[in-house]
Amino acid sequence: MSKQSTFVMLLVMGLGGASLAGLATALADGHHGDPPTPITQRPLRDLAHPAGIRIGTAVDMTALAADQTYRETIEREFSSVTAENVMKWETLEPEPGVFDYQQADALVAFAGAHHMVVRGHVLVWHNQIPAWVNEQDFTPAELRDILREHIIETAHHFRGKIQQWDVLNEAFNEDGTLRDTIWLRALGPDYFADVFRWARMGDPGARLFYNDFNLEFFGPKSDAAFSAVQDLRRRGIPVDGIGFQGHLGAQFGFDTRVQENMQRFANLGLEIAVTEADVRMPLPTDVFKLQSQSQGYHSLLQPCLLTRGCNSFTVWGYTDKYSWVPGFFDGEGAACLLDESFQPKPAYAAVQHDLALAARARH
Ligand code: G3I
Repeated sequence: MSKQSTFVMLLVMGLGGASLAGLATALADGHHGDPPTPITQRPLRDLAHPAGIRIGTAVDMTALAADQTYRETIEREFSSVTAENVMKWETLEPEPGVFDYQQADALVAFAGAHHMVVRGHVLVWHNQIPAWVNEQDFTPAELRDILREHIIETAHHFRGKIQQWDVLNEAFNEDGTLRDTIWLRALGPDYFADVFRWARMGDPGARLFYNDFNLEFFGPKSDAAFSAVQDLRRRGIPVDGIGFQGHLGAQFGFDTRVQENMQRFANLGLEIAVTEADVRMPLPTDVFKLQSQSQGYHSLLQPCLLTRGCNSFTVWGYTDKYSWVPGFFDGEGAACLLDESFQPKPAYAAVQHDLALAARARH
């Protein structure tokens, strides 16, 4: 046994009953230098449960129906699922008053059959809105009614079956100003309050989240989101959680103050979730980039495990076979925990490792 693996074994054996501070030391020490030595072969969901979080993936419904390995891997590894596309408005109501819940309901049924929770994604966004909403000349008052009805109807349809809803997605620019969207233009800057109230009306039991990318680190965007949710909670608007999407790139390096940032949101009484983690890289891959990628996943998972209130860690697709990344970033890809042949990468071992240590520490 190598010096490092001896150290890890001792660490794991000695962690029973350790405090959160002990966990911090363990997680940090486990990630200096070489890739973490695997300390377990157990599936992620078996480790996430005693670690106190749900481990989730976005699900491509076409792949779920067609690819047995894809489906069985989700059943084995994950305890939470998010619809990658089929709970978006353009799918749910392609024509006014014509609803299509078939695929979304199939995902909810799949989750139920395998004791998984569902993260609902997404009620209010500026993308993947049906053409009939986007391309007609509605008055602001009409758009307000249309959005209200969409939120209440959708939340109501799935009521009791969704653990966390991404109610509002990506409403800020990088400089912290409000993104210029059809909803801002129609409803004005206080539309945040309306959409969370409507979501609560539709499903009183779901936890309601604001969700965005580049919130992981301190900066104008994360500051703006922080002020907004702080203000909403002071006014009694039902915002329950904050979703850190976590779309990272191995070529950019990783922030070291994610935990501090998560903690300030948690201090507002919010639940925390990492909702769309992936770590892309310029192709082709090599061992060095893959090692850096595992640090990227660790840079999101470790803070989550160390922040009380962070209860969910979701990857935005778990296999490179179906990842959205190559279609959106020219020359980049390989962003997931498993490769195109469902083989685990170092990042998978890193996630396993963090979960195993956290599970031990909380035992
Ligand atoms: O549905 C059509 C299909 O009919 C058509 O044959 C096919 C041809 O390309 O396109 C299909 O639509 C695609 C859709 O995914 C469903 O597969 C769109 O072109 C494609 O643009 C769309 O991409 C999705 C993207 O959101 C849209 O903005 C990605 O799969 C999805 O991973 C991505 O997810 C977002 C989150 O919702 C929010 N945060 C960022 C994240 C990544 O962009």
